[in-house]
Amino acid sequence: MLLARRLPGILYTHRYTVYSVGIILSTFIYFLFKWNLFCVNLQAWQHVKRMCSLYEQGLAIGSLCAPLCVSKDIHSLTCHSFQTAKEAVFSAEWHNIKLVFKSVTTDVQPIHWYDNGILKYPTEKEFLLSIRTIVKRKLNLTLAYDTAVRLARLKPSYEEKDPLKRKQEIDSLWYLLQDNEYLLSTIFTDKDIFPQLIGTCGPYFAVEYLEPVPFTSALFSMGDTLEEWGQRLKFALQILELLDDLETSFREPFHLCDIKLNHFGYMNNKKKLKFIDLDEAFPRTVISSLFQEIDNCLVDDDCEFLDCRSTCNKTTKQCRTSIENNNFQIVCEKIFLGWRMSNTILVPGLLMSQHTPSELASILRQCANPDGVPGKVRKMPDDEIRKRLFNVLYEMEQSLNNDFFL
Ligand SMILES: Nc1ncnc2c1ncn2[C@@H]1O[C@H](COP(=O)(O)OP(=O)(O)OP(=O)(O)O)[C@@H](O)[C@H]1O
Ligand SMILES: *[C@@H]1O[C@H](CO)[C@@H](O)[C@H](O)[C@H]1NC(C)=O
Ligand SMILES: *[C@@H]1O[C@H](CO)[C@@H](O)[C@H](O)[C@H]1NC(C)=O
Repeated sequence: MLLARRLPGILYTHRYTVYSVGIILSTFIYFLFKWNLFCVNLQAWQHVKRMCSLYEQGLAIGSLCAPLCVSKDIHSLTCHSFQTAKEAVFSAEWHNIKLVFKSVTTDVQPIHWYDNGILKYPTEKEFLLSIRTIVKRKLNLTLAYDTAVRLARLKPSYEEKDPLKRKQEIDSLWYLLQDNEYLLSTIFTDKDIFPQLIGTCGPYFAVEYLEPVPFTSALFSMGDTLEEWGQRLKFALQILELLDDLETSFREPFHLCDIKLNHFGYMNNKKKLKFIDLDEAFPRTVISSLFQEIDNCLVDDDCEFLDCRSTCNKTTKQCRTSIENNNFQIVCEKIFLGWRMSNTILVPGLLMSQHTPSELASILRQCANPDGVPGKVRKMPDDEIRKRLFNVLYEMEQSLNNDFFL
């Protein structure tokens, strides 16, 4: 009571301190939000409001617009923090399925144009051609006619006959198709490697929700039990299987240039692992041409695209047009071994614990850094190392988990 009565007086005598603390605190909170280090569900609601207002004006179309805006079947919006590339990432629920909404940029030249004040759209044939051009440019892939037709529609097996609605559909698709994540999720529906597309509404699309993987914060998982070690081994094997799929299921290997633990996610009760962040996933020839676009490199560090690395030819000042490391090397370095500074491990990775046998540690060092060079590694580990790692992990996992279930 006494303190409460004296509080205004105390605040007054220390008013400058109070002002400064207030200003520092609000600046801090402002930047937390601005840099998306922190989010509130309000932001998710604002995106829904934007979708619905576009929908009501007839500017957005898609299978998720009505459930969001009319019947309101989509509920339980939850925001996801730590997003950088995409403007919006939030999850929601729809009839017991969880989905994740993402926005695409509308910062590209629209597909329609004006001719003497008259609004013009490409013909169906021209639209198909431009879809194939986008896919060729972004994925170096020549689409089969049927796939192109599927991509030219919002609902794969429904042909919009109403000319006005078709124009809205073309407008929406145009923005969506520029997005790498939307493209990969729609083109490779049969592969079971990327999250499945569930639907769209205007410049937003939703994919299936993936369960977060365990051990995403090594710092906080101090538990070092044998049971947890068994789970780690199983997870590591699933990562290796996913990398195998990326290497062999496509016409050419796919490179993930932004590999982090929280970019993996589970489906079907942890049976199937998928990769979430598809903005930085490219086929090998495409990543090579990205290196080609870098002008005037001076050092090797200039020839990097996040985790994907090439080297600088100092005479021509051009990056070598082939990627020199691969998914396997990155995973060994960043996920399995952990954060290192020179040769000391600062934050132990998934496979570094008191249970790590020296044979495993040695294999991991070889795949993270095949030539044992100082600095950043620009080398793909041999296939031999990959097989040895798989076998060692598999045998340990089998014997451990058999022990548990006996
Ligand atoms: N399909 C999904 N299922 C579950 N969580 C997801 C899904 N998609 C995204 N997330 C969550 O949202 C976060 C940000 O999404 P995403 O990786 O697409 O955006 P980003 O801007 O590339 O973020 P980052 O900073 O992680 O690279 C992810 O790290 C993940 O935690
Ligand atoms: C696309 O792929 C083909 C076949 O693999 C290859 O020959 C060609 O160089 C690639 N194009 C580009 C631009 O990378
Ligand atoms: C740099 O490029 C030139 C011309 O293509 C080539 O002759 C040379 O061998 C390259 N140097 C290195 C170190 O790769």
